[in-house]
Amino acid sequence: IPTKIFNNSQIASAAVAKEIADLIRQRQQEGRSVVLGLATGSTPIKVYKELIRLHKEEGLSFSNVYSFNLDEYYPMQPDSVHSYVRFMEEQLFNHVDIPKGNYNIPNGTLAQDQIAAFCGDYEQKIEDLGGLDFQLLGIGGNGHIGFNEPGSLENSRTRLITLDHVTRAAAAGEFQGLRNVPRKAITTGISTIMKARRIVLMGWGEGKSQIVASAVEGPITDQVPASYLQLHSNTTFVIDEACSSELT
Ligand code: F6R
Repeated sequence: IPTKIFNNSQIASAAVAKEIADLIRQRQQEGRSVVLGLATGSTPIKVYKELIRLHKEEGLSFSNVYSFNLDEYYPMQPDSVHSYVRFMEEQLFNHVDIPKGNYNIPNGTLAQDQIAAFCGDYEQKIEDLGGLDFQLLGIGGNGHIGFNEPGSLENSRTRLITLDHVTRAAAAGEFQGLRNVPRKAITTGISTIMKARRIVLMGWGEGKSQIVASAVEGPITDQVPASYLQLHSNTTFVIDEACSSELT
C-alpha cells in the first residue's frame, strides 16, 4: 500500500483536505456531484478543520457533496454527546454549506427488526448516487476500519456488529466508563469500503505505528481488517513520522 509520511498530522491533514477540495471543485466544474465516505474519531478532526477553513476563506462550496459516514453506535440518539451525528455536525456539517439532506449517518435509533432494511437502503443509496468517490478512514488499534472488527469478512456490507473489547475500552474515557459504551454499532462493510474509487487511511502517533505496519506489510487477514486494503488499487496511507516507526 503506498504510504506517505508527513512531518506532522497538521501538514498531512492539510494535504488530505486539499485532495478532497480538489475533487469537489473538479466535479463542480463538470456540473456533477461527489460522494464522500467520512469517518469520525480523533484522526480526521484536522482534515475537517481545514475543509471548514477552505469553505470560509477560499470559497469552497459543499453544495454538490453527498456523504455517507462509516458508522454509528447502536443504540444511539442523534442528540447525545456521544453520537456521530452530533460529532459530524459539530466538526464539519454545521460550518459548511452542505445541504441538510445530503449527509447520511447510520441510524442508531432503529428497532432491532428495522436494522437489516435500513442497512440495505444505505448501500442502495450509495449505489444510486454512483458509488463512493472518496473514502476517508482512520484505523483502530485492533486494525478495524469503520467498525469492521477483526473477523469481518471481505464481502461484508452495512450491518449491525458487536464491538470488540479493544474498541469499547478505547471509548471508555469518553463514555465515563466501559459499562456506558454501547455494545453494538452499525457500520458499512469491508466491501462497501473497498468499492470506493479512492481510499485514504490516516494514522497519527506512535500508538498506531504497529497496527499500520501490520496492515501495510503483514498478511491479508480478517484479523487485521485494514489489511484488506492491500487488495485495493487506489489506496494511500497518510501517516505522520511517529506513526511510521514500525514500517520496514
Ligand atoms: C470512526 C471509525 C473508526 C476510527 C478508529 C480510530 O468513524 O470508523 O474506525 O477511525 O477507531 O479512531 P481514532 O481516530 O479516534 O483513533
